[in-house]
Amino acid sequence: MLKSRDEIAKMREAGRVVGQVLRMLAEEVRPGLAVDKLDETVRREFARRGVLPTFLGYRGYPARVCVSVNEEIVHGIPGRRVLQDGDLVSIDLGATANGFVGDAAVTVACGRASPEAQRLIDVAREALQAGMRQARAGNHVGDIGYAVQTTAEAAGFGVVREYVGHGVGRQMHEDPAIPNYGTPGKGPLLREGMVIAIEPMLTMGDWRTRVLSDGWTVVTADSSLSAHFEHTLAILDGEPEVLTLP
Ligand code: MF3
Ligand code: CO
Repeated sequence: MLKSRDEIAKMREAGRVVGQVLRMLAEEVRPGLAVDKLDETVRREFARRGVLPTFLGYRGYPARVCVSVNEEIVHGIPGRRVLQDGDLVSIDLGATANGFVGDAAVTVACGRASPEAQRLIDVAREALQAGMRQARAGNHVGDIGYAVQTTAEAAGFGVVREYVGHGVGRQMHEDPAIPNYGTPGKGPLLREGMVIAIEPMLTMGDWRTRVLSDGWTVVTADSSLSAHFEHTLAILDGEPEVLTLP
């Protein structure tokens, strides 16, 4: 669960590539784009950089990236769907390099979003930042969840409970689980050398979820809009270092 300074140095490559390619994907989003073009971009850019798509084949997942539109929260499978003006598009990407994983997600508006949808995106991004500020040695996992949850709920948005952040390393999902809700001072102690992914999923309505018949796509039970942001970070010299920046 704890990584050495050397291991964290190796993890920076996967993180940087995820940050770079995720930014390209976000910039590619526009009305008229077929979602599976984003998967093709990942194939091309990962091959060019010599990294592996962590998601492809993970528990049978059939693509390199997750693209979740509007009421879809996470794990949307890229397909022929064509993006429309005003769609909320969540993009989640994982890469493996040097045997280590980087995992990150962003949500962007396709064309013009409604002011309320844009506010959902902005608050979800702020909730991630608030959570990351708590990721310090000596704090607890509950401090992160509390910061995320209070940021979201103060703005009137729901926080998904059934999916959570996680430790990251040679595996995409390691201990500990990092919920987006919690109590200050509770949960596992955060320690030097931990690498974790924090990933708030916010909803405009109820936070309850269901899974579509494709077995993957997670949607809000009430069909309200959803936004998702994620970074992988290391706790180094006691402080959070975000690994999934370009
Ligand atoms: N990035 C997601 C997470 O943090 C994983 C995507 S699931 C996969 O849990 F099956 F697509 F890999
Ligand atoms: Co993740």
